[in-house]
Amino acid sequence: MRRSLVVGNWKMNGTSESVRQLVDGILAGLPQGKAVDAGVCPPYVFIPQVAQQLQGSQVLLGAQNVADQDSGAFTGEVSAPMLKEFGCQLAIVGHSERRMKYGESDALIAARYQKAIEHGVRPILCIGETLEQREAGQTFDVVDEQLDAILNQAGIDSLRHAVIAYEPVWAIGTGRTATPDQAQEVHAHIRQKLAAQDSTVAEQVQILYGGSVNADNASELFAMADIDGGLVGGASLKVDSFLAIVQAAGENS
Ligand code: 13P
Repeated sequence: MRRSLVVGNWKMNGTSESVRQLVDGILAGLPQGKAVDAGVCPPYVFIPQVAQQLQGSQVLLGAQNVADQDSGAFTGEVSAPMLKEFGCQLAIVGHSERRMKYGESDALIAARYQKAIEHGVRPILCIGETLEQREAGQTFDVVDEQLDAILNQAGIDSLRHAVIAYEPVWAIGTGRTATPDQAQEVHAHIRQKLAAQDSTVAEQVQILYGGSVNADNASELFAMADIDGGLVGGASLKVDSFLAIVQAAGENS
């Protein structure tokens, strides 16, 4: 049985004061005794502050990206050993905003993923198609290609230490969510593809859905057989909506 996981991707939002309040609120209201893990991915600069606030709690801490190198002349990058030192257990890799707005390639994303795995930081690998690709009937091909880049570089076994997030680009920040059936169809496809290489890994890996998840639609999404939780943007910036989503995942696990 897979545990549910809900991770907040705060993207480039917050001040030290708003972050303090958000984390306090999450800690105060987190559902107890449910089979769900919650995590937050603040902007890098807030990681030390959030790590301190989360001390002694079960809430997981993650970064929004991770370097493809350990150290050296790589201006603007933050490495897995650095994240580890500051208590990060998770790192998002391959977010569509990184792919599309910053030109990150499948190869670079695979190298970032590999570094996270190597240093014991659990990557949350984001994959998903654009609207144009969906309308052209290319959804499965696109996610297959994104997954193959990872499988070829890091191998199927690496997914024992990773999480996948299916995030259709057209559903991110648009208020337009994939229907539970649309999301389930892709999640099942991903699991099937992995099962061709290793059925245990396919069965165990958590596959999160991301794209306009909110307190109102979370339950029906998480009720689907292959959806194990969510990667949440906008709705993770408010205590009440984030907690409601975590609660919904706990009830569906
Ligand atoms: P929204 O929940 O704001 O659509 O963002 C989803 C996302 O990109 C999570 O990584």
